[in-house]
Order: sequence, then structure tokens, then C-alpha cells
Amino acid sequence: MSERIQAPRGTQDVLGEQAVARAELEHRAHAVLDAAGYARIETPAFEATELFARGVGESTDVVQKQMYTFSDAGGRSLTLRPEGTAPVCRAYLQHGMARLPQPVKLWYLSSFFRYERAQAGRYRQFWQVGAEAIGSDDPAVDAETILLLAELLEELGVRARLRLGSLGTLDARNRYRERLASHLHAHAAELSAEVRERIDANPLRAFDSDHAGTRAVTARAPKLLDALDPDDVEHFAAVRALLDDAGLPYDVDATLVRGLDYYTRTVFEFDSPQLGAQSGVGGGGRYDGLIEALGGLPTPGCGFAAGAERILLAGENVPLPTATVDIYVGYTNPDRRRTAFALALAARRAGLNAQVELAGRSLKGQLKHADRIGARLLALVEAEATALKEMETGEQVTLGDDAVVAEALRRR
Ligand code: HAM
Repeated sequence: MSERIQAPRGTQDVLGEQAVARAELEHRAHAVLDAAGYARIETPAFEATELFARGVGESTDVVQKQMYTFSDAGGRSLTLRPEGTAPVCRAYLQHGMARLPQPVKLWYLSSFFRYERAQAGRYRQFWQVGAEAIGSDDPAVDAETILLLAELLEELGVRARLRLGSLGTLDARNRYRERLASHLHAHAAELSAEVRERIDANPLRAFDSDHAGTRAVTARAPKLLDALDPDDVEHFAAVRALLDDAGLPYDVDATLVRGLDYYTRTVFEFDSPQLGAQSGVGGGGRYDGLIEALGGLPTPGCGFAAGAERILLAGENVPLPTATVDIYVGYTNPDRRRTAFALALAARRAGLNAQVELAGRSLKGQLKHADRIGARLLALVEAEATALKEMETGEQVTLGDDAVVAEALRRR
């Protein structure tokens, strides 16, 4: 026997109950997002590398360390998508969606790829449910996307706390970056090597560090939230007022920075205590400069994404639908296989969930199998007629082959 091949590290097979739970997640995401007028979008699994370099930002961990980038046989540099916002914005431009009523509201449930240290809740291929509203800078868009994610998490039994911040416009942020960078330079000796090396490239990431010295320095650093322009202050206040009206609690977090460079103004993250180290179950924010960075006219946007695996890890008490088998069709003699097969097809056409004997089991084996799959009715095709049996009560009738489907429907 040759050696067995395993799935790559950090990837998962989705099967059994996990597959059922995931279908349920999709079903509920559909219901929540449809109700708010979001339309489904699917973008390709790979894109031009340039899209993420420009969209997500050259100095981010995602672009520097985590992308699966390869050249195809035609010599193009392609990248497996590490996130969904840049691809959706690319699609918005490519399909001229600026002509549609704004904002254009789109949602996705797709797989994403990041080369990360694999552990519970952190994978190299993972799924996100996400939503993007492109074309309006109204604070109601920010509040609505946050509330939709909150509703989705609640629907799926995830208890999570919302942290909320504002990064201001790119101008305000650039001014602030300089002040922060000089504060970090002044205390460079106390910082972790990683943060120290990137003071000029990406000083805001210092707020993400677990390093004790770095944390002490950032605790005394000027805060972006105190350095916002008046327009941004007003925008943030309007978002908070809408969340207050909706009764959604949150903590304002002046140090909330996200790992992607495109954010402006509102940023948010939902953390779930059930998740341990990988506590971020979902997050997002506004990205008013992204479409322009991708070659479009200045166009605001805002959205969220939540990890499907993390939602399912953190979710509790979500009743899962159980598959029912209305009827299992077996036969006593191989001569009757064709009749049994046709009967199962007819039962499905009539709307029943029907399975047919597929493995040439003995009669005893078929009875056991019908029980094991939880069939409600067993149809046993015999020489002249078919015996229809209620599995639970054992009650049995003998019918002509033509009458079986109607009788099964009557008993449903
Ligand atoms: P993100 O924070 O990078 O944002 O990812 C969103 C969520 O995806 C995280 O909160 C987490 O639940 C999940 N996630 C990320 N990486 C992994 C991983 N390696 N394994 C498992 N789950 C993971 C974004 O991707 C933005 N595009 C969100 C957004 C949409 N912003 C605006 N619109």
C-alpha cells in the first residue's frame, strides 16, 4: 500500500455535523442579510496580486507574510484571496456598479487563505461571512453593518462584545502617525524588535503588540481618537447614537487598530470570550479610500466579515435541523432492483426524501440499514407487490407498486 496523503496543515475537511452547522450558518446569514437588501456576490478564489498589495496595504502582515502568491503558466502573479473587501471593490468597479442606486449592498460566504500559524480557531484556509455597502458615507451605513453582524452572531448563539473606534480620515491619520512615530522613536529601546523595526512603516500596529514594554509605551502614547478632525468626531458620534438607539452595547476602544490598511473612520470588532486566544469572531469598518486606491473615483464603503469556523466554535444552543428519510426502498430479490430504483425516483419527484438500497445488502441487512438511517417508512419491493412498513410501529400494508408513493405521501 502506498503512503496516505494528508490534508495540508491548517486546512479542514467539513463533514458530518460540521457540514450541517455550516449549512445552517449560510441559511441564517441569507435570512438576516436578504432582509436588509444585501445581494449575494461570489468573486474568484484568486486575484491579481496587485489588488491586495494596493488594497490591503504593502506594510500589513497579511501582504508581507501571509499571502499564497504564485505565478501561473502565463507568468502572471496571482494570489489566493486573503480577504474579501478588496475583491468586492474590484468587482464594483469592473461591473460599473456606481451606476446603480447607492449604496450597493453585497454579501458573501467564501473561503479565504492566509499563511498563519495554525491553531484552534486559526487556519490557513478559512471561511468568512461578510457584507459590504459601497457608495455612501452616511453614518447609518456604519451602524447598519454593525447591527447586522450583531444580529447574525446572536442568531447563531454567539455571545460577543463589541469594541468600537474611529481612525478618522487618511489625512488625520497621517498627521497622527507622525506624532505616534516620534513618541515610539523616543522610547525605541523599550519596544519589541518587531515594532521597533516598523515604526516608520506602520506605527499603529504597536497597539496590537502583546510585548509588555511595547504596551507600556503605547499606554502613554497620544491616541488617534483624541486627534480626529471635527467632521470625523461628528460622524463617530452619529454612529454611536444610532447604536445607542438600537440598544446595542459597545466599548469605545481608542487603541483598536485592525490588521488591514484600508480603514478610515469607523472600525469595530466583536470578541467572544468562548474563543480564548483567537477571540476576534468578526470585525470590519469603513474604507473610504479603497475604491480610489484601486483606480476608481473617490467612493466610500463600509462592511464586516466574521470567521465561519470561529462563529461555529463560539456558538451555543443553536438547534440543528436533522435530515429525515421519509422512505427507504429495498427489495427481496435482485430481479426487483429496477422497480425499487424507479419507485425511489418517483417518491423523490413527489417531494419525499427517499433512499434506495445501493449496496446489494441481504434482506436482514436492509432492515438494519433502514433503521440506522432513521427511515420512517420501509418499502420492500417483492415479487408481485410491495410491502410498506411503518418503522416505528411495525404496522404493515401490502400494495401494488403504483400505489406506494401515494400511500407514503398520505402517511407523511
Ligand atoms: P479580518 O479581521 O482580517 O477582516 O477578518 C475577519 C474575521 O475573519 C476575523 O474576525 C476572524 O473571525 C476571521 N479570520 C481571519 N483570519 C482567520 C484565520 N486565519 N482563521 C480563521 N478565521 C480567521 C477582514 O478580512 C476584512 N475584510 C473585514 C471587512 C469587511 N472590513 C470591511 N469589510
